[in-house]
Amino acid sequence: MAPVPLSIATVLGSARYGRRCEPIAQWVANGIDTRQDMTSDLIDPLELPLSLGEQPLPLDSWRLLEERMEKADAFVIVTPEYHQGYPAVLKHLIDIVPSVWQDRPVGFISYGTYSNGVKAVEQLKQVLYSLQAIPVDQPLAFEGVERYFDHSNAFRPSIDATHHLSVLLDRLRHAL
Ligand SMILES: Cc1cc2nc3c(=O)[nH]c(=O)nc-3n(C[C@H](O)[C@H](O)[C@H](O)COP(=O)(O)O)c2cc1C
Repeated sequence: MAPVPLSIATVLGSARYGRRCEPIAQWVANGIDTRQDMTSDLIDPLELPLSLGEQPLPLDSWRLLEERMEKADAFVIVTPEYHQGYPAVLKHLIDIVPSVWQDRPVGFISYGTYSNGVKAVEQLKQVLYSLQAIPVDQPLAFEGVERYFDHSNAFRPSIDATHHLSVLLDRLRHAL
């Protein structure tokens, strides 16, 4: 009998206009979609009740987000490096749904212009450990991320990167 497909939620770390994050996260989602053993969801801060100015958080959308993330068996976080850390919008997302990370494997895809985003991932791991998540030590990182994009902002990773994504997804499965 075929194994029950794992639900993998890919979390976008950037809400910036013109963000590279979106095509990278879409590439991850496509990679998940090609597999029989996983299904994909995209958690995009731009579609969420994340405005700091909107307090209290709209209860219905907040509950919907929590329920959606609860359904995930594991996460992939796609994050840029901003000033040697990760974006505030990602911290806010983690903070408003802190319980969903517990006992779930988390993989990382990071990038930056000067670095490969490793400092962002180190800081994320520290926070996620405190929420009893299971960070998976198989990072996929892009230094000088702009060179992996064409003029229409389409992501053009190497075949190697596609292989590393597949290894990362395998590691998530085995971490459960
Ligand atoms: C506020 C800000 C801070 C940044 N800080 C860094 C940094 O510390 N290291 C780095 O390599 N790139 C840095 N960059 C470049 C980003 O990593 C690069 O622009 C990336 O594409 C941003 O991700 P996004 O397009 O998905 O928002 C920074 C960019 C911004 C907007």
